[in-house]
Amino acid sequence: MDAQAVLRGLLVLIINIVITSAEFNRVCFYSGWSLYRDGKMGLAPEDIDPYLCTHVVFAYATLDDTGTQIRVPDGYETEELNLFRRFHSMRSKNEDLVMMLSVGGWATDSKLFSKTVSSEANMQHFAEEAINYLRKHDFDGLDIDWQFPATRGSPPEDVQRYYRFLRLLQWEFEHEEEPDDKSTLILTISVDPTVERAAISYDLPRYSRWVNWINMKMFDFYGHWNDPCVANHHSALYSAHDPKNVNNLSRYWVNKGVPRHKIVLGLPMYGRSFTLTNRNYTQAGAPCSGPGSDEGDGYPISKLCHLIKNGAKEMVIADKRVPYVIVNNEWIGYDNPESIKQKARIVFNNFLGGVMIWTLDLDDYKGSCGRPYPLINAALDGLNARHGYNELITNAKQDQAQQAAAKKEIYRQRALGWQMQDQQEAIHSQQSGRTGGRRRGW
Ligand SMILES: *[C@@H]1O[C@H](CO)[C@@H](O)[C@H](O)[C@H]1NC(C)=O
Ligand SMILES: *[C@@H]1O[C@H](CO)[C@@H](O)[C@H](O)[C@H]1NC(C)=O
Repeated sequence: MDAQAVLRGLLVLIINIVITSAEFNRVCFYSGWSLYRDGKMGLAPEDIDPYLCTHVVFAYATLDDTGTQIRVPDGYETEELNLFRRFHSMRSKNEDLVMMLSVGGWATDSKLFSKTVSSEANMQHFAEEAINYLRKHDFDGLDIDWQFPATRGSPPEDVQRYYRFLRLLQWEFEHEEEPDDKSTLILTISVDPTVERAAISYDLPRYSRWVNWINMKMFDFYGHWNDPCVANHHSALYSAHDPKNVNNLSRYWVNKGVPRHKIVLGLPMYGRSFTLTNRNYTQAGAPCSGPGSDEGDGYPISKLCHLIKNGAKEMVIADKRVPYVIVNNEWIGYDNPESIKQKARIVFNNFLGGVMIWTLDLDDYKGSCGRPYPLINAALDGLNARHGYNELITNAKQDQAQQAAAKKEIYRQRALGWQMQDQQEAIHSQQSGRTGGRRRGW
């Protein structure tokens, strides 16, 4: 054997070790209001499968009027329902589960965050209060979802202040004297990753230095709120024409300098529906008069899967590689197991940090259309995840073959650098070659 061959063998070995030990974060959001959904939709904390996710994030907490204290929103009745304690009960089944709290969301006034970051004293005060609050309620970390810096009453200076705030928070988290058996608190942010939003609201490459990772919400790119109303998919996987898609935005942020392992790709467990103006125009891009039967709240997969099961014809937008259905005069763009799996493949093939699931209670968690959690399980398939949960979700033998193929693919990709289109194409042809067509995953 010549030296080169030995070297090459070593390299392959090293890459294999790196890949085998790579663990992707599976950051699942649990919305506090899911209990209050109409009876059938309610997902109680005790009913969540504690092995699907590595991190479960309770959304959302809000801020008090001074912007320095974390509060539970009115109407959550946290005490009465014992919500946090029940939430943490997942840990009694899987003690490795990391439990986080997310503060913000649309309902939290942007002006309140603006107050938080308005002075060093306020930031400091928030940090101390946040640590107390998180420890008191047994959370392992904090996610911040400010919608959005420099909008809705927050001045442009807040983009820079947010940076200082995150730096200060991380510093305080790192310098906390952790309680026994507890680790340093995790700090993450959730953001709208579109280029338009980022140009106004964030400096993500710099923010990424001080957070453990960034949840990039790769959804709600379009909706009934657009003027004029157009039936458009809200979470395209790909497009040669429209840069608002998961493939191109992921690459955009890698190229901008956000470390790959800090990019956590947001996957929607819901579709978005539109009421078509003219039943004769049903293509993506058709005119609409407003939201469909989801009334603008999003169309849960737990509900949508029944449409497909009952025979609604699933179509795919060729350029965007995501499905839609038309029911009467309603147009619904959503994700199916296949598109979710492909989105997760982007994470796997490009060494991103993981996936963010929005939200647990929107997927078909009861399995009313077949396998429980069809989309989250599809994401796991796409990540080809290991460490204890593989055997729960896939046939081990088949999995080994898939892993070997994936490793080969990664090796090839690494040599080529980031070439998303090729990679997607390869996956496409691989899949159609293997199964002889698109698989119905429900
Ligand atoms: C739809 O197309 C049919 C057949 O061409 C036509 O008769 C009808 O008027 C059209 N409807 C609308 C609302 O334009
Ligand atoms: C998205 O990326 C692909 C390559 O992966 C490229 O061919 C395509 O033009 C990009 N789309 C846009 C709208 O820039």
